Amino acid sequence: MADHAILAGKRVLLVIAGGIAAYKSLELIRRLRERGVTVRAVLTEAGARFVTPLSVQALTEDTVYRDLWSLTDESEMGHIRLSREADLLVVAPATANLLARMAAGMADDLAATVLLATDKPVLVAPAMNVRMWQHAATQANMALLESRGVRRIGPNDGVMACNEYGPGRMAEPMEIVEAIAGVFAAESHRPLAGRRAIVTSGPTHEPIDPVRYIANRSSGKQGHAIAAALAALGAEVTLVSGPTRLPDPAGCRVAHIETAREMLAACEAALPADIAVCAAAVADWRVDGAGDRKLKKDGGAPPALALTENPDILATLSRPGERRPALVVGFAAETGDVLAYATAKRARKGCDWIVANDVSPGTGTFGGSDNTVHLIRADGVESWPTMPKDAVATRLAEAVAEYFTGK
Ligand code: PMT
Repeated sequence: MADHAILAGKRVLLVIAGGIAAYKSLELIRRLRERGVTVRAVLTEAGARFVTPLSVQALTEDTVYRDLWSLTDESEMGHIRLSREADLLVVAPATANLLARMAAGMADDLAATVLLATDKPVLVAPAMNVRMWQHAATQANMALLESRGVRRIGPNDGVMACNEYGPGRMAEPMEIVEAIAGVFAAESHRPLAGRRAIVTSGPTHEPIDPVRYIANRSSGKQGHAIAAALAALGAEVTLVSGPTRLPDPAGCRVAHIETAREMLAACEAALPADIAVCAAAVADWRVDGAGDRKLKKDGGAPPALALTENPDILATLSRPGERRPALVVGFAAETGDVLAYATAKRARKGCDWIVANDVSPGTGTFGGSDNTVHLIRADGVESWPTMPKDAVATRLAEAVAEYFTGK
């Protein structure tokens, strides 16, 4: 049930692009206006082939904005002002074409220009043929937009206007209304505003020679999700990331590093901070004296690698002192006796909380999408059910917020 209190008085700029689902956007305008939302609409040229400007104008009780080059519109209501005078931009339907133009940063019509020029939150409701949605190009465009902070509702599965079945149907108007209420609720819930956080994520690569390195299976999914979740609650986040294939999470400053020593230096450069979360799988050892010449296979005995210990970033950040973050959270990756080893690790490293996870073969913790964790604090252990890493991150970020606000 959409929250009327959250929506009343809000201003939505609705971009209607050219898809058969555009007719549902007329219903969306009505549902939003019933809830006290002011709706202003931008209709693309293709959108106007599916719904008439007159219908949109009648329902919004406002001018329909269509032309980037209209001197009247530009002088009376330029594209910057259209965005400035909105609290949220909603693109419904978001066609494959418009998503591609948004991802490429194009500004070739009024809709794309407003979307490029805005600093307001953007919610898209994709709608297209199932194969267009599943095409690698559309999936890559959507992933890129989401990594930049664009929110998405749908598409839903179902029979489409083209008589095909699958994901591609635009979300229903009331689902979009609820997603809009969700965006406004999230925007007003920023308990970590004014707090600085450091998050480590991913593996480190420790060189053996200029072309080889020692690494591990960490994908960065868990650490990146934690950085995004803390940022969503208003924290100013520095993510210190080892080499991963993930896009930088929206709203975070990201320091890309390779080795443990570089990770430590980047963390120290990000101090002072209120919060540190060490989710990276840092190599405990590096190769002593890794040179700048490639090791040669010369038919003799294989070279022996001498290892030397890396600095411990979590233990360093946890060390008492003026610059110690108020809350330091470590992770413990264990393959047996998870709680006992993790509890001992919390004491040994000196951090406040430790998040224990089982990384035994078959759990999929390294690299997978889900995680099963136990949050160990001085006063006890909370065991969480298996959930997606994003959900672990959100729950951990909420626990961090509770620590600071006492609520
Ligand atoms: O990246 P994903 O594929 O999503 O996988 C997530 C994860 C399994 C990597 C993550 O959930 C996790 O458990 N991270 C910690 C991995 C690890 O190295 O654990 P550890 O028990 O060896 O280290 C304990 C703690 O010390 C960790 O917070 C680690 O970041 C930190 N550490 C370890 C060594 C070191 N030199 N410096 C450190 O800061």
